[in-house]
Amino acid sequence: MKQDFEQNFSNLEQPCVMVCQYSSCLAAGSAEVLAAFKENDLGNFNVVGTNCQGQCSSGPTVRIVPEETWYCRVQLSDVPVIVEEHLKGGKRVEDKLHPRIHMRFSF
Ligand code: FES
Repeated sequence: MKQDFEQNFSNLEQPCVMVCQYSSCLAAGSAEVLAAFKENDLGNFNVVGTNCQGQCSSGPTVRIVPEETWYCRVQLSDVPVIVEEHLKGGKRVEDKLHPRIHMRFSF
């Protein structure tokens, strides 16, 4: 099966929701997550399936560029929350942020 992955995101003219469609993420349900994002009217955001994004142990991985927000373990039920709060509301969904990329410190 031919995969239609977009891999060069350096010249994006439009913000994009990248949903990993590689092995570990697929096994964790990323095809359904990608389909759910595509069902929504996301205004200015494109939605694409991608190859591995290097976060295989915590997929499905959803990365929003160019702002570089990384979500991990995204399930179907998380999609409407990310759509409403982040993509439409402009506020990241803290509970789903990838902890290795969006580190939080408490002292
Ligand atoms: S398989 Fe999705 S990040 Fe590697």
